[in-house]
Amino acid sequence: MSAEAKFRVFVATRFLAEVEAAFDDAFDATFATDEAAPLDELARLVSSGARFDVVLFSLNVRMGAEEIAALPEDVVALATYSVGTDHIDFEAAAARSLAVFNTPRVLADSVAEDAIFLMLAGARRATESIDLIRERRWADWTPKQLVGVQLSGRTLGILGMGDIGQRIATRAQALGMHIAYHNRRPVEEGDGRGFGFRETPEALVADSDVLMIACPSTPETRGSVNAALLAHARADLIVVNIARGDIVEDDDLIAALESGRIRGAALDVFAGEPEVDERYFALPNVFMVPHIGSSTIEARLGMGRILVEGLTAWRAGEAPANRAA
Ligand code: DGY
Repeated sequence: MSAEAKFRVFVATRFLAEVEAAFDDAFDATFATDEAAPLDELARLVSSGARFDVVLFSLNVRMGAEEIAALPEDVVALATYSVGTDHIDFEAAAARSLAVFNTPRVLADSVAEDAIFLMLAGARRATESIDLIRERRWADWTPKQLVGVQLSGRTLGILGMGDIGQRIATRAQALGMHIAYHNRRPVEEGDGRGFGFRETPEALVADSDVLMIACPSTPETRGSVNAALLAHARADLIVVNIARGDIVEDDDLIAALESGRIRGAALDVFAGEPEVDERYFALPNVFMVPHIGSSTIEARLGMGRILVEGLTAWRAGEAPANRAA
């Protein structure tokens, strides 16, 4: 591909060397050096004469209405290295006629594996177990020590049955779990795959031993895992969140965990991350990891590849499947 045919891309987030090499190869790429304020750097570059067609970034760069309005006028597309797009104001992007690309599918297996890891950690009291052994407090084996729950035969309730939710479901079935789910629409052929649709989130929670939050963060889902929903929970419920922190009302989940109203929680994502509500740290029945759902080499390379392929196809006049808007 000649240099003229390449998109001029400002890469606002820094990535693994292999991913950056792929961007460098496919695009006329400029990589941010000011990682704390890449959009300010973009504005400085443009005021010194640089021109860009695409801004490529990830979850660490918020593309709200203000940021989008301030983008250089040549920019025609936003490309986010994430499947989630809640950090992008789509109305503002549409007002500027910007195309938006993201990274569906390529990270779904990694996120599904993270979901299973968290669910097992919640069931087997991983925080307490790790603390006991690492703090050298383990005195003896006893049959009463750290008794968790077996997942086989229990029901996994999945809130949000998209691609990731379905991949979690098939893995959980291999553990011997029953699958219930709530989604805007029932999944095609879901019954035949052993996925039991529930009309409401309340009905789902009432039937679940594990509640897996796997829906996108939208105005409808934000704050939806709250006291009113948890009031329907079984006493043994474990809440797992691999989606977005703001879907959970922290005050309400923490109250349910502190009071023993539910068994536990396993969290990959947090409202306001990387800040984490301090109260979670005091709860032994909470297992936490720092948003590592797609942090595998396979997903990271795939995310780079799908952005290269999508932008290249779009430049050639095609309609790639990873165009989100
Ligand atoms: C995404 O891509 O939106 C995920 O949250 C990354 O783990």
